[in-house]
Amino acid sequence: MTIRVLHVASELYPLLKTGGLADVTAALPAALIEQGADARLLLPGFPPVAAGLEDLRPVARIERSFGAPEATLELGRLPGSDLSVYMIRADAFYARAGNPYLDDEHVPYGDNAQRFALLGWTAAQLAGRLDPAWAPAIVQAHDWHAGLAPAYLRAAQREHGAPLAHVRSIFTIHNLAYQGIFPAQQFDGLGLPHDFLHMHGVEFYGQLSFLKAGLFYADKITTVSPTYAREIQTVAQGGGLEGLLRERTHDLVGILNGVDYQVWNPAGDAAIAAKYSATRMSGKLRCKSALQTRMNLAVKHDALVFGVVSRLTEQKGLDLLLAAVPDLVARGGQLVVLGTGDPSLEQGYARAARQHPESVAVELGFDETLAHEIVAGADVMAVPSRFEPCGLTQLYALAYGALPLVHCVGGLADTVVDATLENLAEDLATGFVFTRFEPDALTAAIRRAFALHARSRDWRETRARAMRQDFGWAASAQRYMALYRELAG
Ligand code: ADP
Ligand code: GLC
Repeated sequence: MTIRVLHVASELYPLLKTGGLADVTAALPAALIEQGADARLLLPGFPPVAAGLEDLRPVARIERSFGAPEATLELGRLPGSDLSVYMIRADAFYARAGNPYLDDEHVPYGDNAQRFALLGWTAAQLAGRLDPAWAPAIVQAHDWHAGLAPAYLRAAQREHGAPLAHVRSIFTIHNLAYQGIFPAQQFDGLGLPHDFLHMHGVEFYGQLSFLKAGLFYADKITTVSPTYAREIQTVAQGGGLEGLLRERTHDLVGILNGVDYQVWNPAGDAAIAAKYSATRMSGKLRCKSALQTRMNLAVKHDALVFGVVSRLTEQKGLDLLLAAVPDLVARGGQLVVLGTGDPSLEQGYARAARQHPESVAVELGFDETLAHEIVAGADVMAVPSRFEPCGLTQLYALAYGALPLVHCVGGLADTVVDATLENLAEDLATGFVFTRFEPDALTAAIRRAFALHARSRDWRETRARAMRQDFGWAASAQRYMALYRELAG
């Protein structure tokens, strides 16, 4: 029997992306379809989504619109793919220019609770045949934006019983740091049963948490790497939710994200200066020179180029890297940073670029093409995150032979093997890993990168090994399929 699964999320590559979530919501349903599932997606109708989907047609009116004058469900298709995508058209909520979550001042929109309640509510309605032609057996909600979907589903199951009784829900944590917190006064507007406002429910220290709703009401919880699944059950990294996560430990599983090698493959990448592969590496040097030229750095073949492509937030540990810039430059290295976010980090990197114009270059903004150019041109990609649920950048880096330099946490710990002497001797090394989140530990990893680069045969072998790693989506999709089968009984 084909399993019907609805993924509920707020972003979708290439239409709308602020981070790795979008890459996952595009690639995972496609990989599930390859495995025989009937997977669809539900998204809010943000402008790039409404403009980007093909063959959009109305399916149904959404009866409860949480204060928006009207809301309709439409169905379309992601161009160039077979992926069917439901979209909620509620222009008063979603047709806003810019970031889907924050206003121009980087402040969350005042009506985010209503905007994302509509998403969760519509998911539960779809499970209850809002579209007479298609209904899911599994609803998989991603991150806090979709966190109310399992709660609405539970409420509907209680109220209506039979027609929905077989539907199961999964909540997937991409990042526990964003909890979807709102004042408790907003509870009444959500239309959930009164007893849901409870410590065993959506209440979180006197407020509401959409993330907690997902964790509490979903039948299963997944997150995006095995190590992060363990980390979030500790006080240090559980964000106050470790108790609930420990109670639900038997329902919690870490499934690593994958790489869409259609999008991230140096042998077929139209965005980069020259294509290359593990057996034909000359193109990588051309990508490196092209990157140095484009970023106005000294064009030097032997300079070790470090790259960063990242949201500039506390999570990413780039304050630690910023402090290491003088050392990196003194050793003859170069650094290229593409990122946007925290103004103090933006200013810090801009200042470093002014101080070292030949060696440090910074582009503040979001630029998909430049992201590819950096991963292709860099020798090393730095991902020194304080915490990292999975991380995709280091996986892209492996594929492009830009050795990842990472902090040993979350998905970074699960995907990169440090170039220690013993790992080199046993043909295991794929990058550089530091364990303590301290300046000297990061600097030691940077020194290890320079030391390996000086041993060119070891460098080439490590790079080839990195490029051979297979983090394709098939293995992850098979794990999700097994989970769906378990849930569907
Ligand atoms: P996160 O989801 O926490 O931001 P991931 O490593 O999972 O981290 O995914 C980040 C994704 O966003 C990658 O596809 C990366 O290339 C992309 N990305 C991040 N910042 C930028 C940027 N400034 N410009 C272009 N792409 C970016
Ligand atoms: C989040 C996490 C990142 C993960 C991505 C996709 O944004 O920060 O580690 O790779 O989601 O799951």
